Amino acid sequence: MKQVRKAIIPAAGLGTRFLPATKALAKEMLPIVDKPTIQFIVEEARQSGIEDIVVVDGKNKRSIEDHFDSNPELEDNLRSKHKDEMLKLVEETTDINIYFIRQSHPRGLGDAVLTARAFIGDEPFVVMLGDDLNNINGNGNPLTKELITSYQETGASTLAVMRVPHEDTAKYGVINPSAEVKPGLYNVTNFVEKPDPKDAPSDLAIIGRYVFTPEIFDVLENTKPGKGNEIQLTDAINTLNKTQRVFAHEYKGDRYDTGNKFGWLETNIEYGLNHPQTKDELREYIKTLGVKLAAEDKAKKK
Ligand code: G1P
Repeated sequence: MKQVRKAIIPAAGLGTRFLPATKALAKEMLPIVDKPTIQFIVEEARQSGIEDIVVVDGKNKRSIEDHFDSNPELEDNLRSKHKDEMLKLVEETTDINIYFIRQSHPRGLGDAVLTARAFIGDEPFVVMLGDDLNNINGNGNPLTKELITSYQETGASTLAVMRVPHEDTAKYGVINPSAEVKPGLYNVTNFVEKPDPKDAPSDLAIIGRYVFTPEIFDVLENTKPGKGNEIQLTDAINTLNKTQRVFAHEYKGDRYDTGNKFGWLETNIEYGLNHPQTKDELREYIKTLGVKLAAEDKAKKK
């Protein structure tokens, strides 16, 4: 069996939910405390044994390329001032095999994945979506590693799911599980992109991590635009599942959705509560704020 060595990170979205911040800045560069979201994804890939990463980007994404490039002026400056810790942080981001492909006419997530076909070739690979973070404080397993381990056992395409509140199904691809073949690993009857809660076949939502066999590319070539008139990865997965099993692996660890304002704030707080430079002050601040807000709520009720 071929090893999973390569990852695709689609990053061509416009980031409209974060305007005006994302007018000139790539949304993947929005920081969680001091680290751009895309750097968490790259770190997860490397912790999972991925060797080569391709980012499929679009307009206004130069900041991502610059982030993973060297910055000799900054490095020389830090070196001359003996700021070794900072220098290490800067150098860490360049010591990565990362490549960039431009998706000139964004036609959806499925199309972004297809754009990277020549880079992947005839190998299994992972897809990692930039808004979805997991295990940010390193207390558990990186989700991508769990998926690759599962792939090594089954040789089949496998994606990650998690239970979400039923009213949220319209935000996700949702699976219709048929049998739990072993704890947390499901056979799936069909995959549906963003169903209305009334039509959702389950509460198990796709959470932005996938391992694919290369056959997904042939399917994507023939996938017609679906929901939102975009080429949906979920539709291609549904088709692939008819000729080749696609499993769903349920993730039980911590997951954060940084693609919306509240989720982004929440992730910052959770990460900030573990960050050596912010954790003590932030903890005290949240405690004081809690007391203040409780008093305000009490006063309102009177
Ligand atoms: C994409 C996928 C969807 C998946 C979601 C996870 O949607 O199309 O199936 O559940 O990512 O975050 P998006 O959030 O890009 O609209």
